[in-house]
Amino acid sequence: MTVLEVLNAATDFLRKCEVESPRLNAEHLLAHVLHKKNRIELYIEFERTLGEAERAPLRELVRRRSEGIPLQHLLGTVDFMGLEFATDARALIPRPETELLVGLVLAEGAGLRIADVGTGSGVIALTLANKLPEAAVAACDISPDALALARENADRHGLARRITFLECDLLSGFDGPADAVVANLPYISTVEIATLSREVRHDPVLALDGGADGLDLVRRLTPEAAAKLAPGGLVALEIGLGQAAEVARILAAHNFRDISIRRDYQNIERFLIARHG
Ligand SMILES: C[S@@+](CC[C@H](N)C(=O)[O-])C[C@H]1O[C@@H](n2cnc3c(N)ncnc32)[C@H](O)[C@@H]1O
Repeated sequence: MTVLEVLNAATDFLRKCEVESPRLNAEHLLAHVLHKKNRIELYIEFERTLGEAERAPLRELVRRRSEGIPLQHLLGTVDFMGLEFATDARALIPRPETELLVGLVLAEGAGLRIADVGTGSGVIALTLANKLPEAAVAACDISPDALALARENADRHGLARRITFLECDLLSGFDGPADAVVANLPYISTVEIATLSREVRHDPVLALDGGADGLDLVRRLTPEAAAKLAPGGLVALEIGLGQAAEVARILAAHNFRDISIRRDYQNIERFLIARHG
């Protein structure tokens, strides 16, 4: 079978198994098996014949994808603002929206002492450390597994010495003061978890579950951030659909000002930024 025939067969199979974007998934998986830098490189090899040694690992990946294992777990990495991060079942798969959160923080000016709360794979903390060479960044997470992955990602990019990894509940292990507190905490309500796609259910529950209305963690973080931010310090939060007004109210009640709601790629109110004091 040629590259094109193998791709067509994999695409048909994934479509039958109700995998979204079956062609794109098939291309990513084949590019991975053939060690291509990106899937576009496949296009110039469409007529090349693939042997069993190349088809067997692809078959296995396509089978696992058809069972709902996320593409990113099968590929093992994701690109986040131009840096490659390892991703696996230990932490949430980084989402493209979170790049916007980091962009907002950079545009606002984060200062030099930054805390990333619920760091997961470390994408926020490590990207900020990479973009702000003078900054000291604390990466906090209650999950030792997530922190281990974040550490591996820091090593991958030579950033480990710039980051303090703290295994703690929210900001409890961080002495402060901070110029910026950035957080993409779990914000899905507990009842909603069961309704998520089979792919999302491969993310750790600890990375998703935000309690009864999804805002348990944001509610607890806000006073902690207020206590640890330097005067005028920035808070930047990623939140869920329909939560912006309530989060703005929580921030205002804790002496945050200049509260601004920002939208994501789908025009959904997804981020809040504000200054303390
Ligand atoms: C939605 S994930 C975000 C991961 C990463 N920051 C990102 O944007 O891809 C939320 C993270 O918060 C962590 N977390 C959950 N409860 C926490 C708590 N009480 N204190 C600190 N981290 C917590 C989870 O382990 C998870 O890594």
